[in-house]
Amino acid sequence: MNEKTIIEDYKQQEKTEILKRSSEQLIEAVNSLLSKMTLAEKVGQMYQAAHFGAELVGPSVDNIDTVDLIKQGRVGSILSMSDKTMLYKLQKLAVEESRLRIPLLYAYDVVHGYKTIFPISLGLACTWDETIVKKTSEVAATEAARSGIHMTFAPMLDVVKDPRWGRVMESFGEDHYLGSVYAKAYVEGFQKDSLTSRNAVAACAKHFIGYGLSEAGREYNTVDLSEMKLRQEYLPPFKAAIDAGVASVMSAFNVVGGIPATGNKYLLRNLLKDELSYKGMVISDYDSSGEMIHHKTARDLKEVAEKSLIAGLDMEMVTKSYVKHLEIIVDESPYLMPYVDDSVRRILTLKYNLGLFDDPYKGLTDHSEDYTLTEEHRKIAYEAAVKSIVLLENDGVLPLSQTQTVGLIGPFVQSNEVNGAWSALGNHQDTVTLAEGFKEDTFVCCQGCSVLGDDLISESDLAVAMADVDVIVLAIGEDENMSGEGASRAFLDLPGRQNELIEMVSKLNKPCVTVVFSGRPLDLRLLKEHSNALVQGWFLGSESGYALADVLKGVVAPSGRLSMSMPYCVGQVPVYYNQLPTGRPVPKNNSTHRFSSRYIDIPNEPLYAFGHGLTYTIFEYSHFTTTATRLTTNENVLVRLKVTNSGEVTATETVQLYIEASYHSVSRPVKELKMFKQVRLKPGEHEIVEFDVGYETLCHIDEKLISSASAGCYMIHIGKSSSDIVFTKEIVLEVT
Ligand code: GLC
Repeated sequence: MNEKTIIEDYKQQEKTEILKRSSEQLIEAVNSLLSKMTLAEKVGQMYQAAHFGAELVGPSVDNIDTVDLIKQGRVGSILSMSDKTMLYKLQKLAVEESRLRIPLLYAYDVVHGYKTIFPISLGLACTWDETIVKKTSEVAATEAARSGIHMTFAPMLDVVKDPRWGRVMESFGEDHYLGSVYAKAYVEGFQKDSLTSRNAVAACAKHFIGYGLSEAGREYNTVDLSEMKLRQEYLPPFKAAIDAGVASVMSAFNVVGGIPATGNKYLLRNLLKDELSYKGMVISDYDSSGEMIHHKTARDLKEVAEKSLIAGLDMEMVTKSYVKHLEIIVDESPYLMPYVDDSVRRILTLKYNLGLFDDPYKGLTDHSEDYTLTEEHRKIAYEAAVKSIVLLENDGVLPLSQTQTVGLIGPFVQSNEVNGAWSALGNHQDTVTLAEGFKEDTFVCCQGCSVLGDDLISESDLAVAMADVDVIVLAIGEDENMSGEGASRAFLDLPGRQNELIEMVSKLNKPCVTVVFSGRPLDLRLLKEHSNALVQGWFLGSESGYALADVLKGVVAPSGRLSMSMPYCVGQVPVYYNQLPTGRPVPKNNSTHRFSSRYIDIPNEPLYAFGHGLTYTIFEYSHFTTTATRLTTNENVLVRLKVTNSGEVTATETVQLYIEASYHSVSRPVKELKMFKQVRLKPGEHEIVEFDVGYETLCHIDEKLISSASAGCYMIHIGKSSSDIVFTKEIVLEVT
């Protein structure tokens, strides 16, 4: 049956209205259904099956096995399926052939777009604009929901300080405060005002917790995370997602305190469900429960099931420890039944909240093409892409002028493979290349080399090709498959023979603008040396070419600010702005002091700092004032400054407020981002920017694992980045 047949077929059964139930009605409906369920049916809801192959019932035991289980009402969810025929057929089996007709929950990794693809999350994080970030998840949700998807495995909230780790592209970077801002935006965008909306999907905060700390950036490697650091840096984005009402949380692959997160009772039950009063559903990562056997903390699947249940895992992704062993376990240990009931209540509540009991075919009857890759969605993708671009260097060569003939060189000039990892149903053919972005202009194209191969144009051929151009735009970077899951790198250099191409281009003795396409911060020293302007282009998705060309041509000024430090070299990793002072900070008056915390062969500072980003105008900061120099637990200080656009183009400035504590019971970072504000100003315009600094602003986890601020001095830093501090003022906190 094709999509058209589905819709005709489904139309025989009137599209049912999705009810908005009160919490009392919801509780009653869930409890009433739960009371009718057998243990086998309860356990079935706790199982998320792997996605199917092409055929509904094929030679694969799994397919047959899962189809039978669906008919028996013993599958709660299926992931990574998008074919409407399959989604419709399996849902029909569940709601027409199983005893209690409980609908299936369909989940998919919709991370930065479904069909319309937005910049990778690490790029979106450089917008410092929660409004546009929320818009991207609103669009992604609409496109997915109208295609029959009910739940997405996003936002990914891992704080990441190691660019060697491939999934850095999926994160919001190194700062937990910035990550918390985006966590809220993403959850609200995905879930809309209500999950009953036909444009909403349930969000999933992942990976709980600490996956981004994988040792040495090596995928799936061990994690060592202190309780203080967990609560100070890794928990806040999840707390923000929970406060925003995130419908589910996914447990991580890694251990925390030596115990796999998926079987970690302290994490899932004590911290998440009890201390944070989390009422949503906890789902494992892909076989992360079964991997307890590899972690050697479970001898077999039966022990996996028991440990997972006791830990607080509600739904098991693809592993069948629950399906195969939970009934026996509960029969042997009836005291565990309340745990099963609690998990099933959470799952049924989610399905009711999504309206699946009212309309199990939600989204399937919609013509997907009416909702995907629309002009409006592409406009949002363009805006998000423009705002994700970070101008790292510019000696004045940018913006390009209309009169210039541009020489486009490099493997990414005509490449549409710039959606990045985790780009769901995004097609490369729907993605605009850089050359297409320049289509209205006079330019010459030359690939020069491939991304990965050992092909390389000759110097003479390149010189001939570029003989008449005024300025070069060099488009180089990583292949999009060199980041994402299972794509850790030990080096941060450019693959293939791109470095040789860079050297060759520099011999042309023409101004060179370099655009870097990557899913991670790379070692850009060589590019910095040979470029008149350097642009971090990430993987920008569907509107990549238009966004980059317009920024390079000055149609719009760049506004991106780095959400992650760019290391001087891989040996400096992990490098991040909010580092601790150590007992041997480098003396300000003696940067080569041997016995201080430093290297003998490279600087401590990254090549580009967290928060860094240039634009095409000049923003002047002046009139910095504070309403007081002392504050208490209930008296705040207002920090004000005047920001003026004294240049010649309209642009956006991100004013950043950092604090530096002089004392605490635990060692605190040398500076901490606590607030930021964006102002968009025309030439000559100015705006007064105000920050309201209170006790909470100064807090940090203390030795009792409580968020507190010690009495004493704090420096308030106002900066254009974490390293470009414009104003500093000392204030004193009096704790009454
Ligand atoms: C993967 C990822 C997780 C994803 C899940 C389902 O292994 O770790 O982020 O949501 O499996 O695809």
